[in-house]
Amino acid sequence: MRITLSMAALALVLAAPTASQVRILQTSPDPVNPLAGPNVPDLLSSKTAPTNLTRLQDPDEPQYGDEVYRPYSGQAGKDVVWVPTPDSLVRAMLETAGVTRNDYVVDLGAGDGRIAIAAGRDFGARAHGIEYNPKMVALARRNAQRAGVADRVTFAQADIFKSDFSEATVVTMYLLPSLNLRLRETILKMRPGTRVVSHAFDMGDWEPDQTIRTDDASGYMWIVPAQVAGRWAFEIGNERFATELGQTFQKLSVPRGGPLRAGEVRGTIVRLTRANGQVIEGEVRGDTIIGRGWTASRIASN
Ligand SMILES: C[S@@+](CC[C@H](N)C(=O)[O-])C[C@H]1O[C@@H](n2cnc3c(N)ncnc32)[C@H](O)[C@@H]1O
Repeated sequence: MRITLSMAALALVLAAPTASQVRILQTSPDPVNPLAGPNVPDLLSSKTAPTNLTRLQDPDEPQYGDEVYRPYSGQAGKDVVWVPTPDSLVRAMLETAGVTRNDYVVDLGAGDGRIAIAAGRDFGARAHGIEYNPKMVALARRNAQRAGVADRVTFAQADIFKSDFSEATVVTMYLLPSLNLRLRETILKMRPGTRVVSHAFDMGDWEPDQTIRTDDASGYMWIVPAQVAGRWAFEIGNERFATELGQTFQKLSVPRGGPLRAGEVRGTIVRLTRANGQVIEGEVRGDTIIGRGWTASRIASN
């Protein structure tokens, strides 16, 4: 029997497990984490299905891991199963995020370490993977050793929801829509300009800044926007005015009929369209926005 496992299918299954699915799932605890909840896909709803998930490895699936530990795609995890991101998408995700040697990349739910290791090996970045399954953490560390990047790519056995990853300049993840949403508030408090890349799943009504596609997979990239909602005093040439900026993620709203027509913020860069059609750009530095020939000072935050 060939079992084709996609995370999108998992998301659908996990969204609303039926009573029989839950029963099957509960008969198959993760040997590493027996407390794992119903986070295994219902590959097994037929009557012929065995109840021990560890026997369900697809014979056509590539062998993962090494001589010490062989994980299989779809194996249980704390909040989501392990399914590896294809190498082509790993590369595309890191390229889209513009990763360089100056970055600190953190992969949330790092699996066998492939994203963090690629960030260190192919982009020269420092990288860190947070993974709950201790066997996967040990495998990821061995993989980093084999790739010759153990000096700059590290792994921690931890729960992503109890970990501080605020120092990351790039966050990567392949989780589930619900988990992305649970992380969203934390991510939005990160340094403006932090890039966030997700394999497959979006972040609800926070629209991505970019979509990523390879032949067999896709993802999204967001740039954490500076928080600029509030009242600002502008000086543009000889003109002086004060106005409100509203903000929903990277989109700015301005009062109708006022001196500004539209706006957006990408990381720390604010782009505004004036009532006369002129587009001006400036960089947010704390309570100031500094552009060429113009500045704005924050009067009040929302
Ligand atoms: C879909 S896999 C992605 C692996 C890797 N990031 C990749 O893209 O190849 C999700 C990983 O998250 C891990 N995981 C699930 N819940 C977690 C949690 N709360 N904290 C840390 N890791 C978790 C799973 O064990 C699994 O390895």
